[in-house]
Formats: sequence, structure tokens, C-alpha cells
Amino acid sequence: MKQTLPSAPGPIGVFDSGYGGLTILSKIRETLPQYDYIYLGDNARAPYGTRSFEIVYEFTLQAVTRLFGMGCQLVILACNTASAKALRTIQINDLPRLDPTRRVLGVIRPTVECIGSITHSRHIGVLATAGTIKSESYPLEVHKLFPDIKVSSEACPLWVPLVENNEAQSEGADYFVRQDIQRLLAKDEQIDTVILGCTHFPLLLPKIKQYMPEGITTVTQGELVAKSLKDYLARHPEMEKKCTKGGRCVYRTTESEKKFTESASAFLNESIRVERIEL
Ligand code: DGL
Repeated sequence: MKQTLPSAPGPIGVFDSGYGGLTILSKIRETLPQYDYIYLGDNARAPYGTRSFEIVYEFTLQAVTRLFGMGCQLVILACNTASAKALRTIQINDLPRLDPTRRVLGVIRPTVECIGSITHSRHIGVLATAGTIKSESYPLEVHKLFPDIKVSSEACPLWVPLVENNEAQSEGADYFVRQDIQRLLAKDEQIDTVILGCTHFPLLLPKIKQYMPEGITTVTQGELVAKSLKDYLARHPEMEKKCTKGGRCVYRTTESEKKFTESASAFLNESIRVERIEL
């Protein structure tokens, strides 16, 4: 059924299953501070990484539709799992029905585009959620652009729960971070570049750096996605005009406002306005 959506310019929507997308949002806001943003975290249903394709698609579509209803003309899926499992279907099947003038962009393509100039050995690794790894989105996207690059992958199913539960700095996190890095590197000793293909993982960076051998470049996505969005808006003036400019940012969560505010402070250096919504 065709819905009536607001056509006026609006904020840029940034969606993640939980807090991880805040690592992307903060880099986007550093690069493009002039725009307005709405961040939506589906914290009540996170993590998505172990959920089926159908459920991740269903939840992501609900979130995108809600952000459209809040006036967003452009939505960034700041979540690899949603980008891997839902983005294409939403772009191809749902946008024409919801509103063909709106856009939904993901985080995998902008990350992959930069890889060719980072790896020298042409052997890379990807650490991500089980869902992202199972989708094979990274090897597929890498091989479209760089057929010569060999991609090895390792799912890290416990890293997102560690971050979502404020355990990223705990000693317990060391065990899983070390184990998953070692498992990845054991698959190909020529790996010289490792993509952190999950927006939660930068919160584990101190531990990742501790266990990543010297000489291996760890790639985080925030700056890459921010740069790609800047380029996108420069190339699409019709969309740029539909993004309001006031430098404001509001937050929506499906969990309790208090919990979101407390946990989000680990990611952000400002007091925030957050409101609970249901999807
Ligand atoms: N930040 C999401 C991602 O990039 C985490 C997914 C999850 O909720 O498991 O994949």
C-alpha cells in the first residue's frame, strides 16, 4: 500500500541495531556538522548479528519506514548486518513503493572502495557479526571492485553483546578478541589489512590493537562512510537540498531512555536528547 510521507526537507537518518552506529554518526557529524540528524537505535532488539535474513530485513524496513515518517529523505544504515541483509531488498523492492525519491545507503560499499589502496599483499581479513560473514557481502563486494584480492573472514558473535553490555573494557573481552583475531589470521598468513566490518567493533579497539600483530592495518569504517556521504551529497545536489541544515541531532531508541543515555555517553562527548519509540 502506498503511504503518504512528508515531502519537505528533513534530517539525515542514521540507523543501527544498537549503539554501534554512534561510531559512524560521530564521524559523519565531524565531517558534515551543518546537517540535522536523527539517530535510531533498535536497542531493545539488538543484537541483529545472529538473527535470520528475514528478521533483519523486517526490523530494518520498520526502522527505515519510521525514519521516513519522521521526515528523513536520506537514511544511512550504520550497521553492517542490516546493510548486508536488508539494504539491497529495500533499495530494489521497497523504495519504489514507499517513495522512489528517497534514498537508503549502507556502510559496506564505502568501506570496500578504499581497500584496494590500503592492502599491499592483496590478502585481507574481515571481522564481523555472524550474519554479515554468512551473507558473504564483503567478499562479493571486494571481488566486484578488486578481483585479485583474497578475502578471509571470521565471525565474532560475542563482540557486539560485549559492547552492548558495557563489557568492552572488561578482562572477559580479552579472551574473545584474542581468539577471534588469531582464528582469522590463521586462515591466511599473508593478511596485511583487517576490516572491522561491524560498527560496534571500534569500541573494542584498545583490545583489538593489543592482539593485532604489528604490520597489520586495522580498518574502521566511520571516516570512510563520512567521506563517502560527503561525496554522495556533492554528486547529488537534488538530495543535498532535501537535507535540513541546523547542526541538530536527536536520538531515538526502542529501549529505555535512561539506559540509552547512560550507555551512549561512552560514545559521545555531549549531553543528548533521547526519546523512546516503538517500531
Ligand atoms: N553494528 C551492527 C553491525 O555493524 C551490529 C549488528 C548487531 O546488532 O549484531 O553489524
